[in-house]
Amino acid sequence: MGLCWSNRIKSYTCSNTGLSSKCGSRDWKTSSSSSSKVLIVSVPQTPRSEGEILQSSNLKTFTFSELKTATRNFRPDSVLGEGGFGSVFKGWVDEHSLAATRPGTGIMIAVKRLNQVGFQGHREWLAEINYLGQFQHPNLVKLIGYCLEDDHRLLVYEFMPRGSMENHLFRRGSHIQPLSWKIRMKVALGAARGLAFLHSAEAKVIYRDFKTSNILLDSNYSAKLSDFGLARDGPTGDNSHVSTRVMGTHGYAAPEYLSTGHLTPKSDVYSFGVVLLEMLSGQRAIDKNRPSGQHNLVEWAKPYLTNKRRVFRVLDTRLEGQHVLSQAQNLANLALQCLAGEPKCRPNMDEVVMVLEQLQEQVKEIPKISQKEHNLKVNGGTNGGQIAYPRPSASLLYA
Ligand SMILES: Nc1ncnc2c1ncn2[C@@H]1O[C@H](COP(=O)(O)OP(=O)(O)OP(=O)(O)O)[C@@H](O)[C@H]1O
Ligand SMILES: [Mg+2]
Repeated sequence: MGLCWSNRIKSYTCSNTGLSSKCGSRDWKTSSSSSSKVLIVSVPQTPRSEGEILQSSNLKTFTFSELKTATRNFRPDSVLGEGGFGSVFKGWVDEHSLAATRPGTGIMIAVKRLNQVGFQGHREWLAEINYLGQFQHPNLVKLIGYCLEDDHRLLVYEFMPRGSMENHLFRRGSHIQPLSWKIRMKVALGAARGLAFLHSAEAKVIYRDFKTSNILLDSNYSAKLSDFGLARDGPTGDNSHVSTRVMGTHGYAAPEYLSTGHLTPKSDVYSFGVVLLEMLSGQRAIDKNRPSGQHNLVEWAKPYLTNKRRVFRVLDTRLEGQHVLSQAQNLANLALQCLAGEPKCRPNMDEVVMVLEQLQEQVKEIPKISQKEHNLKVNGGTNGGQIAYPRPSASLLYA
């Protein structure tokens, strides 16, 4: 695991980067006056041409009219969620021919529609096809196909019945069953395996946008990573990093990446640490609604993670009664290592997977989740079990 693993971290201030950030939905065309500070070198999106990417993938090419039919003309009540790229709709296709079918027949799909055609949106769309068209892994969401027609850019994915980890972790309400410790651990392990695969010699990809909203969940809470719009091919040859424009989501990006633009797999490991902290605490990485001094989760929580007796201050109070404190201490320790200020001191994702596998072994008692209530609240909605809800605007990083 490397010598640094047990070292404690110097504190630093993520938010004090001078970076521009913008609240609200992602507007890729917007940049701000401070962009010069973060603009390093822009690397080509991909060494393959657009034609090569589209031809080499085994994805189905959908016409716009097919996807209109599959989603019932992109009906508002089919919306599964909304992100910077656009809205995501539920749709139906035949399992074998993938032809659009009537709702309720065939298999469900998720259709992501770019709502603003611009160079950046097209680039993200192509990056998704480039990466998800090449890779298949149990912890990466399956891309079924795409549509490229006039100004239309759409992506068609397997439908993930339980939506995003973000929805599960942060939605609140007296009727809402909080995610159990066991499920949090399962999701953490699945997501870690997905990242470890991306970092492996086989894939050599830096994901760059690891966050809870990009972790999708199947019916068994198996985690699958989605959104490769910001992913980059990893370092090659003697290079230890890729220099790139700083992009990502505020609160998740590694400090050295923010300050230098140097991107390495360890930048993803830092983001993974932030997500672990979110799972541990049930709090968002950035939340301006928290008391002052607590807006940035990492800054606020880090001092508690270093002290075994104080970890409970960070722990999600909704986990009470699940007797998870000793495991929480181990998870806090792992998060702390991932959040090390010095990238070399962070574990690699294979090491993270190993630790999480060990922790998984320790999860003996499964807290009983009322299946009836779960079905009612999670599966009962018109959107195939997902709850689309407004969230505090994430601050996004711009080059
Ligand atoms: N394959 C899918 N199956 C089911 N629901 C999905 C699928 N893909 C996305 N969603 C839903 O759509 C929502 C929006 O996803 P999207 O990736 O567009 O944005 P985001 O990750 O929330 O934000 P950002 O643009 O910052 O990445 C997700 O949170 C999820 O609820
Ligand atoms: Mg996403």
